[in-house]
Amino acid sequence: MKIQLKYLIFVALLVFCSCEDEKKPKKHDDHPPIKEAHYDHGEHNEDYDHQAVLGSEQDAEEFSKLDAAEAKDRLESLAKEKIDLNKDHIIDENELANHILKSFVKLDDAEAQVRFGETDADSDDILTWKEYMQETYGMSEEELQEQAKTDKDKKNMLNDILIEKSRFFLADRNKDQTLDRKEFNAFYHPFNYEYMHENEINNTFKFHDKNSDGFITFNEYSDENADKETADYDKEHFKQYDKDSNGKLDKKEVEKWVIPDHGQLAIDEAKHLISETDADKDGKLTIDEIRDQHSLWVGSQHISLHDPEEL
Ligand SMILES: *[C@@H]1O[C@H](CO)[C@@H](O)[C@H](O)[C@H]1NC(C)=O
Repeated sequence: MKIQLKYLIFVALLVFCSCEDEKKPKKHDDHPPIKEAHYDHGEHNEDYDHQAVLGSEQDAEEFSKLDAAEAKDRLESLAKEKIDLNKDHIIDENELANHILKSFVKLDDAEAQVRFGETDADSDDILTWKEYMQETYGMSEEELQEQAKTDKDKKNMLNDILIEKSRFFLADRNKDQTLDRKEFNAFYHPFNYEYMHENEINNTFKFHDKNSDGFITFNEYSDENADKETADYDKEHFKQYDKDSNGKLDKKEVEKWVIPDHGQLAIDEAKHLISETDADKDGKLTIDEIRDQHSLWVGSQHISLHDPEEL
């Protein structure tokens, strides 16, 4: 893993691109859909909840400027129209978790759209692989192929870019050899799109399964030259993924490793909101209960309930 990181830094330095994010190995623990942590050193971070409910950083920002009455009304509309799918005026955990999962995807898609705008140099809302290469790495694939013949770092870079290329053309659902804005979302956050998953798993095997036996052992998972801290970190994580503790990861276990479980994250968040909101403790929420907790759900310009100043 260290090797990957090293040439990622190299790539970043080399082409001065603003794309370090997508060059990082994408793993469960470094790709939360909400950039801010839910708890920071034990402190509850309400921005996390607001984004989980609203699915948009801009909307969260907008709510923070509304007065409480308007925030409550808009939250009520959101709950009735978007969260209460069976229209029984009750929000249960399932409905809420579903909504939050959609929010996560919306947040990821918004991030992808910013990147699309930066990459689409001629602003025609269509990206070719050639354009993507040029904008992201400052050279064409052919140029890189040529340099890779004599330069080992360039060869590593090329291998990584070929993985990216497989992702690019898999995301091209209508097979017109270009990505439109919608297709780019799946390229940029393949975890959110099930048809992208198998390719991610295959690419992980291509990178790590050195002896191609269909399993990734700890030695293949971790870099042999890793310092102690990295090795300990890797060991701990490997143990978590190696569910049957046989010392190697099979395809299912690799899937758990490389495809983040945003579904579980959404369920956790739904449980959190319900436990704080469900005044009569019947396990589900009425619209009134939600209105009462608008500060937790979406905020408003009023000082938050979690602000120690107000307590
Ligand atoms: C992944 O690998 C399997 C087995 O090698 C293969 O059958 C499958 O087509 C591959 N899937 C993708 C999306 O490349």
